Amino acid sequence: AAEAASCRKMAALRLAVSGAGRTFLNPSNVAGVSQVNMSFSALSRGKKAALSTLGLLTAGGAGLALMLHQSVKASELELHPPSYPWSHSGMLSSLDHASVRRGYQVYKQVCSACHSMEYLAFRNLVGVSHTEAEVKTLAEEIEVVDGPDESGEMFTRPGKLSDYFPKPYPNPEAARAANNGALPPDLSYIVNARHGGEDYVFSLLTGYSEPPAGVSVREGLYYNPYFPGQAIGMAPPIYNEVLEYEDGTPATMSQVAKDVCTFLRWAAEPEHDQRKRMGLKLLMGAAILIPLVYYMKRHKWSVLKSRKIAYRPPK
Ligand code: HEC
Repeated sequence: AAEAASCRKMAALRLAVSGAGRTFLNPSNVAGVSQVNMSFSALSRGKKAALSTLGLLTAGGAGLALMLHQSVKASELELHPPSYPWSHSGMLSSLDHASVRRGYQVYKQVCSACHSMEYLAFRNLVGVSHTEAEVKTLAEEIEVVDGPDESGEMFTRPGKLSDYFPKPYPNPEAARAANNGALPPDLSYIVNARHGGEDYVFSLLTGYSEPPAGVSVREGLYYNPYFPGQAIGMAPPIYNEVLEYEDGTPATMSQVAKDVCTFLRWAAEPEHDQRKRMGLKLLMGAAILIPLVYYMKRHKWSVLKSRKIAYRPPK
C-alpha cells in the first residue's frame, strides 16, 4: 500500500514539473549559461593589469588626500587625554563607591564654590555613598528658601532629602562676573558632555603647567594643554592636601582628581552598576537560550533540509 501511495505522489510531481521543468533541465541550455562569466580570473591579461593599476591609483590617491588633509588641520592642537585604567571601566566592574563618597566630599569642599550640579538632589546619595541619616545631616546644613507661608511671606528652612544641591551663583551672569567672564559649567553631566569623559576631566585637573616658550597666556587665564585652546579660565582647583579626607585616605592631587572623576561618572550615569548587572544577567540567559533555540531550529528543519527531490522523466 505504501508503495502505491509513493507511486501516486511521484506521478503528481511529474505532472507539476513537466513542461517548464523539462526545458529548464535541457543540457544544451545549461551549457549556454556557463559562457557568461563575469569573474576577474576570466579577464585577459591586459585587462587584469589595467584594472589593478586603476585600483592602486584610486587607493593611493585617497591615502594621499587623507594625509594632506591631516597635515593642514590646525584646529586639533590640544593634547588628547590618555585612557586611564579606571576601576569601573571593565565590562563587569561596578563603581568604587568609597571613591564616589570621597569624590562627593571633594565636590562639596572644592568644586561647589564655583560649579553647580543642579540635577542632583540629596536623596540621590542615599544608598550610593551615604546612609539616609548621613544625607539628612548633610541636607540640613544648607538653607533653602521656601514658601509662601500663610501670611504670604517666603521663609528659609533647613534642607531636606528632596532638595537639590545648592548653586554657588543665583544666575549665569553672576557666575561670569565672579570668574573673569568665564562660565563654570554645571557638573551634573560633564563626563558625558566632554570627549574623553573622566579621562579628560582627570587630565584637565592634573594637567596645568607653565606655558611653553613663546606662548603667552592672557591675564586671568591659565595654561592647560588638555583644554581646547590651551587657555582656561579656571584656576588650578586642586593640589596635594587640598582637603582632608574623612576616611583618612592620603589626599594627593591625583587621588583627589580620581575620586572627583569617579563621583562625576556616577552623577552622569547613576544607572551604571544596574546597567552592568542587567547585562550580565542577559548574557547568562542568552548563553542558555541561544544554543537551545539553535538546537530546536536544526531539529525542526532537519526533515526539510535532508530530503531529496528526484525527477524521473516519464518513460
Ligand atoms: C574658582 C572657581 C572654580 C573652582 C573651585 C572649580 N572650577 Fe572648574 N571651572 C571654573 C571656570 C570659570 C570654568 C570655565 C573655564 C573656561 O571656560 O575657560 C571651569 C571649567 C571646568 C570644567 C570644564 C572644562 C571644559 O572642557 O569646558 C570642568 C570639567 C571643571 N571646571 C571641573 C572642575 C572640578 C572637578 C572642580 C573641583 C575639583 C572645579 N572645576 C573647581 C571655575 C572653577
